[in-house]
Amino acid sequence: MKTFKITTLPGDGIGPEVMDVALAVLDLVGSEYGLNFEIKSELAGGASLDQFNEPITESALQSCLESDAVLLGAVGGPKWDNLPQEKKPEKGLLKLREVLGLFSNLRPAKIFAPLADASSLKKDVIVGSDVMVVRELTGGIYFGEPRGHDKHEGFNTLRYKKYEVERIAKVAFELARKRNGHVTSVDKANVLDSSQFWRDVVHEVHKDYQDVPLSNMYVDNAAMQLVRDPKQFDVIVTQNLFGDILSDITAMITGSLGMLPSASIGEKHAMYEPVHGTAPEIAGQNKANPIAMICSVTMMMEITLNQPEAAHRLNNAIESVLENGIRTIDIASTDSTIVTTDGMRDEIIHAFQQTNKSIIDSRELVRE
Ligand code: IPM
Ligand code: MN
Repeated sequence: MKTFKITTLPGDGIGPEVMDVALAVLDLVGSEYGLNFEIKSELAGGASLDQFNEPITESALQSCLESDAVLLGAVGGPKWDNLPQEKKPEKGLLKLREVLGLFSNLRPAKIFAPLADASSLKKDVIVGSDVMVVRELTGGIYFGEPRGHDKHEGFNTLRYKKYEVERIAKVAFELARKRNGHVTSVDKANVLDSSQFWRDVVHEVHKDYQDVPLSNMYVDNAAMQLVRDPKQFDVIVTQNLFGDILSDITAMITGSLGMLPSASIGEKHAMYEPVHGTAPEIAGQNKANPIAMICSVTMMMEITLNQPEAAHRLNNAIESVLENGIRTIDIASTDSTIVTTDGMRDEIIHAFQQTNKSIIDSRELVRE
């Protein structure tokens, strides 16, 4: 039996609720595919601040470093908003990205056909869109020094080294090649030196990927084009801050932030988390949409656990539940059946088991 070490960081707000769903799904997949998960749960974000007065502890980081993969719920909330920068829950997440070296953040926004009506965009604009945002995650203005603020000014530093741009560009080109797609590198080269540099390096890397079409787009235009005609995009590669913003926009193509998973990958480590935040207004009410979290588990199965069949089945299970009109409140329309977080979990688990059954049934039919 294959054993995988996984550290879970449920975090704050709806984080623990959606993490419970992820664990139930892991349990099921493990038992069906003969995988053994050694799971360790650690505190992160506000939960860690409350207990240890720091947003992530050394021992939690250590556990993540020793794991095959990390699953994160979400961190942050109004309770901790007024703390100094170094003590904010978000700092825990940034520290994780830094310590684990997770430089590449993959945020796929693919529309589930039954959800076309849940988007605030017109159906014909979004149906068929499939965008992958490749966000640089350990550099740029999020991490640049010097930084600071006092009563008179506030400042941050936006800086990219060549190797940082090269490695993220490679990730984007490799992905686009696999998808038979193309790359749009998003920058602000008309204003920022760091962006002109980004553009030059991306073009240099592109010499090794001549079969993959590359175009450049300014970030303001990209934001506009994403809501005007998302189908023109395939892989978007961009710096940390632009990627943060653009991936929230692409999320709305799918109808809800509650649908969007992400994978953060480095040379040695990987972390999977939903793109949505802690949604404190619905925390603890069994209302959160667990699909982004389940899709994050699916990405983990594809990328770290190398279980494409399980991932595929899980995806089909989600699709069939949505096809049956079952929805959490954030993606509900007038004729849907509204379920709780746990309700969605049960439906997806049931659908997963059904697909297994139908595979077995059809095998038996073949034998007869
Ligand atoms: C995200 C979040 C984080 C970010 C915050 C919570 C630090 O918005 O993962 O998109 O800005 O990267
Ligand atoms: Mn964000």
